[in-house]
Amino acid sequence: MAGKKIRLGLIFGGRSGEHEVSLASAKSVIENLDKDKYEVVPIGITKEGTWLLGTEPARLIETAQHSGVEEEPGETTSVTLTGDPRLRRLIPVQGSEQLRDNGALDVIIPVLHGTYGEDGALQGLLEMANVPYVGCGVLGSALGMDKEKMKMVFQAVGLPIVDYLVYRRNQWERSPETIMDAIEQRLGYPCFVKPVNLGSSVGINKAHERHELEHAINVAAEYDRKIIIERGISCRELECAVLGNDEPIASVVGEVIASNEFYDYNAKYIDNKSQTIIPAAIPQPTAEEVRRQAVTAFLALDLSGLARVDFFLDRESGQVYINEVNTLPGFTQISMYPKLWEASGLSYAELMDRLIELAIERHEDKQRNRTSL
Ligand SMILES: Nc1ncnc2c1ncn2[C@@H]1O[C@H](COP(=O)(O)OP(=O)(O)O)[C@@H](O)[C@H]1O
Ligand SMILES: [Mg+2]
Repeated sequence: MAGKKIRLGLIFGGRSGEHEVSLASAKSVIENLDKDKYEVVPIGITKEGTWLLGTEPARLIETAQHSGVEEEPGETTSVTLTGDPRLRRLIPVQGSEQLRDNGALDVIIPVLHGTYGEDGALQGLLEMANVPYVGCGVLGSALGMDKEKMKMVFQAVGLPIVDYLVYRRNQWERSPETIMDAIEQRLGYPCFVKPVNLGSSVGINKAHERHELEHAINVAAEYDRKIIIERGISCRELECAVLGNDEPIASVVGEVIASNEFYDYNAKYIDNKSQTIIPAAIPQPTAEEVRRQAVTAFLALDLSGLARVDFFLDRESGQVYINEVNTLPGFTQISMYPKLWEASGLSYAELMDRLIELAIERHEDKQRNRTSL
Protein backbone atom coordinates (compact mmCIF):
# COMPACT_ATOMS: atom_id res chain seq x y z
CA MET A 1 0.00 0.00 0.00
CA ALA A 2 1.48 3.31 -1.08
CA GLY A 3 1.78 6.24 1.34
CA LYS A 4 -0.87 8.90 1.63
CA LYS A 5 -1.46 10.60 -1.69
CA ILE A 6 -0.84 14.31 -2.04
CA ARG A 7 -4.20 16.02 -2.51
CA LEU A 8 -3.89 18.50 -5.36
CA GLY A 9 -6.42 21.20 -6.08
CA LEU A 10 -6.30 22.04 -9.75
CA ILE A 11 -7.91 25.42 -10.38
CA PHE A 12 -8.77 26.28 -13.98
CA GLY A 13 -11.08 28.28 -16.24
CA GLY A 14 -11.72 31.66 -14.73
CA ARG A 15 -12.84 35.19 -15.50
CA SER A 16 -10.33 35.79 -18.25
CA GLY A 17 -10.03 36.18 -21.99
CA GLU A 18 -7.81 33.12 -21.78
CA HIS A 19 -10.50 30.89 -20.24
CA GLU A 20 -10.46 28.36 -23.08
CA VAL A 21 -6.68 28.17 -23.14
CA SER A 22 -6.81 27.36 -19.44
CA LEU A 23 -9.22 24.46 -20.02
CA ALA A 24 -6.84 22.93 -22.56
CA SER A 25 -3.87 23.35 -20.20
CA ALA A 26 -5.81 21.83 -17.28
CA LYS A 27 -6.72 18.80 -19.35
CA SER A 28 -3.07 18.08 -20.13
CA VAL A 29 -2.02 18.59 -16.52
CA ILE A 30 -4.70 16.16 -15.30
CA GLU A 31 -3.69 13.57 -17.87
CA ASN A 32 -0.03 13.74 -16.94
CA LEU A 33 -0.15 13.73 -13.14
CA ASP A 34 0.90 10.44 -11.57
CA LYS A 35 -2.34 9.09 -10.06
CA ASP A 36 -0.39 6.83 -7.70
CA LYS A 37 1.13 9.88 -6.07
CA TYR A 38 -1.63 12.42 -6.35
CA GLU A 39 -5.33 12.69 -5.74
CA VAL A 40 -6.49 15.35 -8.17
CA VAL A 41 -9.40 17.57 -7.19
CA PRO A 42 -10.52 19.60 -10.20
CA ILE A 43 -11.86 23.05 -9.30
CA GLY A 44 -13.39 24.89 -12.23
CA ILE A 45 -14.19 28.57 -12.34
CA THR A 46 -16.78 29.66 -14.85
CA LYS A 47 -16.40 32.76 -17.01
CA GLU A 48 -18.83 34.43 -14.63
CA GLY A 49 -16.59 33.64 -11.68
CA THR A 50 -18.56 30.80 -10.04
CA TRP A 51 -16.37 28.13 -8.44
CA LEU A 52 -17.39 24.58 -9.29
CA LEU A 53 -16.61 21.29 -7.61
CA GLY A 54 -17.37 17.61 -7.91
CA THR A 55 -18.65 16.58 -11.31
CA GLU A 56 -19.20 20.16 -12.43
CA PRO A 57 -15.63 21.07 -13.46
CA ALA A 58 -15.53 18.10 -15.79
CA ARG A 59 -18.34 19.71 -17.70
CA LEU A 60 -16.07 22.67 -18.31
CA ILE A 61 -13.47 20.39 -19.81
CA GLU A 62 -15.92 18.04 -21.48
CA THR A 63 -13.43 15.26 -21.92
CA ALA A 64 -11.89 15.45 -18.47
CA GLN A 65 -13.76 12.34 -17.33
CA HIS A 66 -11.98 10.30 -19.97
CA SER A 67 -8.62 11.62 -18.92
CA GLY A 68 -8.02 9.86 -15.66
CA VAL A 69 -10.05 11.95 -13.24
CA GLU A 70 -11.71 9.34 -11.08
CA GLU A 71 -15.25 10.08 -10.05
CA GLU A 72 -15.42 9.30 -6.38
CA PRO A 73 -18.84 10.42 -5.19
CA GLY A 74 -18.68 12.03 -1.78
CA GLU A 75 -14.91 12.31 -1.99
CA THR A 76 -13.76 14.69 -4.63
CA THR A 77 -16.77 16.91 -4.11
CA SER A 78 -15.25 18.65 -1.13
CA VAL A 79 -12.37 21.02 -0.80
CA THR A 80 -11.29 23.68 1.58
CA LEU A 81 -8.33 25.87 0.93
CA THR A 82 -7.09 25.48 4.46
CA GLY A 83 -7.29 23.19 7.44
CA ASP A 84 -8.50 26.07 9.61
CA PRO A 85 -12.27 25.59 9.95
CA ARG A 86 -12.78 29.32 10.44
CA LEU A 87 -11.49 29.99 6.94
CA ARG A 88 -13.23 27.09 5.26
CA ARG A 89 -15.94 29.07 3.57
CA LEU A 90 -13.52 31.59 2.18
CA ILE A 91 -14.93 31.00 -1.25
CA PRO A 92 -18.49 29.81 -1.72
CA VAL A 93 -18.30 26.87 -4.04
CA GLN A 94 -21.06 25.21 -6.03
CA GLY A 95 -21.22 21.55 -5.10
CA SER A 96 -20.06 22.21 -1.56
CA GLU A 97 -23.34 20.78 -0.20
CA GLN A 98 -21.65 17.39 -0.18
CA LEU A 99 -18.56 18.71 1.59
CA ARG A 100 -16.44 16.08 3.20
CA ASP A 101 -15.25 17.53 6.51
CA ASN A 102 -11.52 17.25 6.14
CA GLY A 103 -11.34 18.39 2.55
CA ALA A 104 -8.07 20.24 3.00
CA LEU A 105 -5.84 20.39 -0.05
CA ASP A 106 -2.10 19.82 0.22
CA VAL A 107 -1.07 21.85 -2.82
CA ILE A 108 -2.95 24.07 -5.28
CA ILE A 109 -2.05 24.18 -8.94
CA PRO A 110 -3.44 27.32 -10.53
CA VAL A 111 -3.81 26.60 -14.22
CA LEU A 112 -5.36 29.93 -15.00
CA HIS A 113 -4.06 32.38 -17.55
CA GLY A 114 -4.53 36.12 -17.60
CA THR A 115 -6.65 38.24 -15.29
CA TYR A 116 -7.58 36.94 -11.82
CA GLY A 117 -5.33 33.91 -12.26
CA GLU A 118 -1.94 34.97 -13.48
CA ASP A 119 -1.95 38.50 -12.06
CA GLY A 120 -1.54 37.82 -8.35
CA ALA A 121 -5.22 38.02 -7.39
CA LEU A 122 -5.61 34.26 -6.89
CA GLN A 123 -2.12 34.03 -5.39
CA GLY A 124 -3.17 36.57 -2.71
CA LEU A 125 -6.15 34.43 -1.83
CA LEU A 126 -3.95 31.34 -1.57
CA GLU A 127 -1.49 33.22 0.65
CA MET A 128 -4.35 34.20 2.96
CA ALA A 129 -5.37 30.56 3.10
CA ASN A 130 -1.74 29.60 3.84
CA VAL A 131 -1.77 26.73 1.39
CA PRO A 132 1.22 25.79 -0.83
CA TYR A 133 0.64 26.59 -4.49
CA VAL A 134 2.55 26.10 -7.72
CA GLY A 135 4.16 29.08 -9.39
CA CYS A 136 4.86 32.69 -8.64
CA GLY A 137 3.69 34.65 -5.61
CA VAL A 138 1.68 37.86 -5.51
CA LEU A 139 4.40 40.32 -6.49
CA GLY A 140 6.00 38.20 -9.21
CA SER A 141 2.61 37.39 -10.73
CA ALA A 142 1.54 41.04 -10.72
CA LEU A 143 4.83 42.23 -12.22
CA GLY A 144 4.67 39.50 -14.83
CA MET A 145 1.26 40.78 -15.87
CA ASP A 146 2.06 44.48 -16.07
CA LYS A 147 4.09 45.14 -19.20
CA GLU A 148 5.13 48.60 -17.99
CA LYS A 149 6.30 47.72 -14.45
CA MET A 150 7.96 44.57 -15.80
CA LYS A 151 9.99 46.70 -18.22
CA MET A 152 10.94 49.09 -15.41
CA VAL A 153 12.41 46.18 -13.46
CA PHE A 154 14.20 44.85 -16.56
CA GLN A 155 15.75 48.29 -17.09
CA ALA A 156 16.80 48.50 -13.46
CA VAL A 157 18.88 45.33 -13.77
CA GLY A 158 20.28 46.27 -17.18
CA LEU A 159 18.28 43.91 -19.38
CA PRO A 160 17.88 45.23 -22.95
CA ILE A 161 14.32 46.15 -23.92
CA VAL A 162 12.76 47.87 -26.91
CA ASP A 163 11.87 51.53 -26.43
CA TYR A 164 8.28 52.23 -25.30
CA LEU A 165 5.79 54.81 -24.08
CA VAL A 166 2.84 54.36 -21.72
CA TYR A 167 -0.36 56.39 -21.47
CA ARG A 168 -3.44 56.20 -19.35
CA ARG A 169 -6.85 55.97 -20.94
CA ASN A 170 -7.92 59.34 -19.53
CA GLN A 171 -4.82 61.03 -21.02
CA TRP A 172 -5.57 59.45 -24.39
CA GLU A 173 -9.17 60.57 -24.33
CA ARG A 174 -8.13 64.11 -23.46
CA SER A 175 -5.34 64.66 -26.00
CA PRO A 176 -5.10 62.00 -28.73
CA GLU A 177 -3.35 64.22 -31.29
CA THR A 178 -0.55 65.25 -28.91
CA ILE A 179 -0.04 61.63 -27.88
CA MET A 180 0.14 60.39 -31.46
CA ASP A 181 2.64 63.15 -32.29
CA ALA A 182 4.81 62.06 -29.37
CA ILE A 183 4.67 58.41 -30.42
CA GLU A 184 5.56 59.22 -34.03
CA GLN A 185 8.48 61.34 -32.93
CA ARG A 186 9.92 58.93 -30.39
CA LEU A 187 9.03 55.48 -31.75
CA GLY A 188 7.95 55.85 -35.37
CA TYR A 189 6.36 53.06 -37.43
CA PRO A 190 5.73 50.24 -37.25
CA CYS A 191 4.84 50.24 -33.58
CA PHE A 192 2.96 47.80 -31.37
CA VAL A 193 0.05 48.95 -29.25
CA LYS A 194 -0.96 46.82 -26.27
CA PRO A 195 -3.13 46.88 -23.18
CA VAL A 196 -0.61 46.92 -20.31
CA ASN A 197 -2.28 44.12 -18.35
CA LEU A 198 -3.31 41.25 -20.60
CA GLY A 199 -1.93 38.31 -22.52
CA SER A 200 -2.41 35.96 -25.48
CA SER A 201 -2.06 38.96 -27.81
CA VAL A 202 -5.62 40.05 -26.96
CA GLY A 203 -6.11 43.73 -27.78
CA ILE A 204 -2.66 44.01 -29.44
CA ASN A 205 -2.24 45.65 -32.85
CA LYS A 206 0.62 46.61 -35.09
CA ALA A 207 0.31 50.13 -36.48
CA HIS A 208 1.98 51.17 -39.76
CA GLU A 209 0.58 54.70 -39.97
CA ARG A 210 -1.40 57.27 -38.01
CA HIS A 211 -4.90 55.97 -38.72
CA GLU A 212 -3.93 52.49 -37.64
CA LEU A 213 -2.27 53.94 -34.58
CA GLU A 214 -5.44 55.76 -33.54
CA HIS A 215 -7.52 52.65 -34.04
CA ALA A 216 -5.00 50.45 -32.21
CA ILE A 217 -4.94 52.73 -29.17
CA ASN A 218 -8.73 52.83 -29.07
CA VAL A 219 -8.82 49.02 -29.13
CA ALA A 220 -6.19 48.68 -26.38
CA ALA A 221 -8.07 51.26 -24.29
CA GLU A 222 -11.11 48.98 -24.32
CA TYR A 223 -9.14 46.31 -22.48
CA ASP A 224 -7.15 48.29 -19.96
CA ARG A 225 -6.79 51.75 -18.44
CA LYS A 226 -3.10 51.72 -19.32
CA ILE A 227 -1.80 51.43 -22.89
CA ILE A 228 1.76 50.67 -23.90
CA ILE A 229 3.23 51.50 -27.29
CA GLU A 230 6.50 49.87 -28.35
CA ARG A 231 8.88 50.42 -31.20
CA GLY A 232 8.23 47.57 -33.63
CA ILE A 233 11.29 45.60 -34.61
CA SER A 234 11.84 43.01 -37.29
CA CYS A 235 12.70 40.00 -35.23
CA ARG A 236 12.76 36.28 -34.60
CA GLU A 237 11.01 35.19 -31.42
CA LEU A 238 12.83 33.07 -28.85
CA GLU A 239 11.49 31.51 -25.67
CA CYS A 240 13.22 30.02 -22.66
CA ALA A 241 11.72 28.09 -19.73
CA VAL A 242 12.86 28.77 -16.18
CA LEU A 243 12.27 26.44 -13.24
CA GLY A 244 13.15 26.82 -9.56
CA ASN A 245 12.82 29.14 -6.57
CA ASP A 246 15.93 30.86 -5.27
CA GLU A 247 18.28 28.98 -7.60
CA PRO A 248 16.39 28.87 -10.89
CA ILE A 249 17.65 27.02 -13.94
CA ALA A 250 17.03 27.76 -17.62
CA SER A 251 16.02 25.26 -20.31
CA VAL A 252 17.26 25.07 -23.88
CA VAL A 253 16.02 27.93 -26.07
CA GLY A 254 13.13 27.49 -28.49
CA GLU A 255 11.93 29.57 -31.42
CA VAL A 256 8.39 30.39 -32.45
CA ILE A 257 7.68 31.08 -36.08
CA ALA A 258 4.36 32.90 -36.21
CA SER A 259 1.98 32.16 -39.05
CA ASN A 260 0.88 35.79 -39.24
CA GLU A 261 2.67 39.12 -39.54
CA PHE A 262 3.14 38.86 -35.79
CA TYR A 263 2.27 36.29 -33.15
CA ASP A 264 -1.35 37.35 -32.68
CA TYR A 265 -4.24 35.44 -31.08
CA ASN A 266 -5.08 33.71 -34.33
CA ALA A 267 -1.49 32.56 -34.87
CA LYS A 268 -1.27 31.37 -31.26
CA TYR A 269 -4.47 29.39 -30.91
CA ILE A 270 -6.60 29.27 -34.03
CA ASP A 271 -4.89 28.58 -37.32
CA ASN A 272 -2.49 25.89 -36.07
CA LYS A 273 0.12 27.05 -38.54
CA SER A 274 2.66 28.59 -36.21
CA GLN A 275 5.76 26.49 -35.74
CA THR A 276 7.85 25.71 -32.71
CA ILE A 277 11.49 24.86 -33.18
CA ILE A 278 13.40 23.30 -30.28
CA PRO A 279 16.24 23.96 -29.91
CA ALA A 280 16.26 27.20 -31.87
CA ALA A 281 18.77 27.33 -34.71
CA ILE A 282 20.80 30.19 -33.28
CA PRO A 283 24.48 30.60 -32.47
CA GLN A 284 25.57 29.09 -29.15
CA PRO A 285 26.57 32.47 -27.63
CA THR A 286 23.11 33.87 -28.45
CA ALA A 287 21.45 30.90 -26.73
CA GLU A 288 23.69 31.37 -23.70
CA GLU A 289 22.81 35.06 -23.61
CA VAL A 290 19.08 34.25 -23.71
CA ARG A 291 19.43 31.72 -20.88
CA ARG A 292 21.41 34.19 -18.78
CA GLN A 293 18.87 36.94 -19.32
CA ALA A 294 15.99 34.56 -18.55
CA VAL A 295 17.44 33.70 -15.14
CA THR A 296 18.29 37.36 -14.43
CA ALA A 297 14.70 38.36 -15.24
CA PHE A 298 13.29 35.55 -13.08
CA LEU A 299 15.28 36.68 -10.06
CA ALA A 300 14.75 40.41 -10.68
CA LEU A 301 10.95 40.01 -10.77
CA ASP A 302 11.04 37.78 -7.68
CA LEU A 303 9.42 34.87 -9.51
CA SER A 304 9.17 31.35 -8.16
CA GLY A 305 8.30 27.91 -9.46
CA LEU A 306 8.12 28.57 -13.15
CA ALA A 307 8.09 31.17 -15.89
CA ARG A 308 8.49 31.25 -19.63
CA VAL A 309 10.65 34.16 -20.68
CA ASP A 310 10.18 35.52 -24.20
CA PHE A 311 12.72 37.35 -26.32
CA PHE A 312 13.11 39.16 -29.61
CA LEU A 313 16.19 38.55 -31.72
CA ASP A 314 16.67 41.57 -33.99
CA ARG A 315 17.10 40.26 -37.53
CA GLU A 316 19.38 43.11 -38.53
CA SER A 317 21.63 43.71 -35.52
CA GLY A 318 21.49 40.26 -33.92
CA GLN A 319 20.72 42.01 -30.63
CA VAL A 320 18.63 40.09 -28.07
CA TYR A 321 15.82 42.02 -26.36
CA ILE A 322 13.77 40.64 -23.51
CA ASN A 323 10.06 40.98 -24.29
CA GLU A 324 8.14 39.56 -21.34
CA VAL A 325 7.71 36.80 -18.80
CA ASN A 326 4.68 34.54 -18.59
CA THR A 327 4.19 33.28 -15.06
CA LEU A 328 1.50 30.77 -16.00
CA PRO A 329 2.45 29.83 -19.55
CA GLY A 330 0.37 27.54 -21.73
CA PHE A 331 0.63 24.03 -20.38
CA THR A 332 -0.79 21.71 -22.98
CA GLN A 333 1.40 18.86 -24.15
CA ILE A 334 2.33 20.83 -27.24
CA SER A 335 2.95 24.06 -25.33
CA MET A 336 6.41 25.58 -25.40
CA TYR A 337 7.04 25.45 -21.64
CA PRO A 338 6.74 21.67 -21.12
CA LYS A 339 8.33 20.99 -24.52
CA LEU A 340 11.40 23.07 -23.66
CA TRP A 341 11.85 20.98 -20.50
CA GLU A 342 11.30 17.77 -22.38
CA ALA A 343 14.12 18.79 -24.74
CA SER A 344 16.21 19.59 -21.66
CA GLY A 345 15.67 16.09 -20.24
CA LEU A 346 12.63 16.54 -17.99
CA SER A 347 9.41 14.78 -18.98
CA TYR A 348 5.99 16.42 -18.48
CA ALA A 349 5.24 14.17 -15.49
CA GLU A 350 8.66 14.85 -13.92
CA LEU A 351 8.12 18.56 -14.49
CA MET A 352 4.82 18.39 -12.58
CA ASP A 353 6.53 16.53 -9.71
CA ARG A 354 9.23 19.20 -9.56
CA LEU A 355 6.73 22.08 -9.62
CA ILE A 356 4.79 20.52 -6.74
CA GLU A 357 8.03 20.03 -4.78
CA LEU A 358 8.98 23.67 -5.38
CA ALA A 359 5.55 24.82 -4.15
CA ILE A 360 5.96 22.87 -0.91
CA GLU A 361 9.55 24.04 -0.52
CA ARG A 362 8.64 27.70 -0.88
CA HIS A 363 5.70 27.37 1.50
CA GLU A 364 7.92 25.72 4.11
CA ASP A 365 10.57 28.39 3.66
CA LYS A 366 7.97 31.09 4.24
CA GLN A 367 6.81 29.43 7.46
CA ARG A 368 10.31 30.15 8.80
CA ASN A 369 9.65 33.90 8.70
CA ARG A 370 8.87 35.51 12.02
CA THR A 371 5.40 37.04 12.04
CA SER A 372 5.71 38.70 15.43
CA LEU A 373 8.26 40.88 17.18
N1 LIG B 1 8.03 45.59 -30.03
C1 LIG B 1 7.71 44.57 -30.85
N2 LIG B 1 8.36 44.37 -32.01
C2 LIG B 1 8.03 43.33 -32.82
N3 LIG B 1 7.04 42.45 -32.56
C3 LIG B 1 6.34 42.61 -31.41
C4 LIG B 1 6.64 43.66 -30.48
N4 LIG B 1 5.82 43.56 -29.44
C5 LIG B 1 5.02 42.51 -29.69
N5 LIG B 1 5.31 41.93 -30.86
C6 LIG B 1 4.59 40.77 -31.46
O1 LIG B 1 3.33 40.62 -30.78
C7 LIG B 1 3.27 39.40 -30.04
C8 LIG B 1 2.53 39.58 -28.75
O2 LIG B 1 3.14 40.57 -27.95
P1 LIG B 1 3.46 40.30 -26.42
O3 LIG B 1 4.07 41.54 -25.88
O4 LIG B 1 4.27 39.07 -26.30
O5 LIG B 1 2.03 40.16 -25.77
P2 LIG B 1 1.30 38.92 -25.03
O6 LIG B 1 1.55 39.14 -23.59
O7 LIG B 1 -0.13 39.07 -25.38
O8 LIG B 1 1.92 37.65 -25.53
C9 LIG B 1 4.72 39.00 -29.89
O9 LIG B 1 4.84 37.62 -29.70
C10 LIG B 1 5.32 39.47 -31.22
O10 LIG B 1 4.96 38.61 -32.29
MG1 LIG C 1 3.89 37.14 -25.58
